Amino acid sequence: EEALRGLKMAMKADSPAKDTAAIVIEPVLGEGGFYAAPASFLKEIRKICDENGILMIADEVQSGFGRTGKMFAVEHSGVEPDIMTMAKSMADGMPISAIVGTDTVMDSSGPNSLGGTYTGSPTACAAALAVFDVFKEEDILGKSQRLGDKLRKRFDQWQEQFPHVDNVRNLGPMAAIELVTDKTSKEPRADFAAAVTKKAKENGLILLSCGMYGNTIRFLMPVTIEDNILEEGLAIVEQALKEIG
Ligand SMILES: Cc1ncc(COP(=O)(O)O)c(C=O)c1O
Repeated sequence: EEALRGLKMAMKADSPAKDTAAIVIEPVLGEGGFYAAPASFLKEIRKICDENGILMIADEVQSGFGRTGKMFAVEHSGVEPDIMTMAKSMADGMPISAIVGTDTVMDSSGPNSLGGTYTGSPTACAAALAVFDVFKEEDILGKSQRLGDKLRKRFDQWQEQFPHVDNVRNLGPMAAIELVTDKTSKEPRADFAAAVTKKAKENGLILLSCGMYGNTIRFLMPVTIEDNILEEGLAIVEQALKEIG
């Protein structure tokens, strides 16, 4: 509700509907802290866009290609954007990105109006097509959902066990924990997150923090990770969490 109020306020004060070409949203904030947009928020954005002739663009660069248990994070809400941006997991690391849109939108740009120096690399395109095959052949979405459930169970345990772990959250395996002073004040502690990251690195695990306050640690392991490797990584994080505070 607060986000929607903010959006409506911005449209009143800064960008009236008649001057707004598009609303771009990450269905799950990446660098911003791994917050999943509630379905109701995405539905409201769709409604505002429909009512005002504004395009809805879902940035799925980080959340797309199975990272949330569905092919695209926006699918969790049932909302259909006009345009989606994709990259990162699309070709399993090969450099490729895509802008995908409805016929109406994509056909309106005319021949030769979309292009770029690196578009259509045959190697990257072949890799992306191979990724699509692997999704089908190896039940990647099923794996992704199971991985997400496993992480959530473990993070719930951490939240119970450790005084400084709070606000654990996930959409599939796009999962994060926050480091705080305590669960009452919930004061963000970037220094704790940095300490955990440093300790984990000493033990051979690279972690990435994110979020407005730098106190969130995000987890983005390959969806195809083997159980024993996952366990090894989680044990390193757990050890680091024991040592802080
Ligand atoms: C959600 C999201 N959108 C866009 C980008 C930027 O993508 P590019 O560097 O390919 O323009 C990133 C990069 O981290 C991202 O996470």
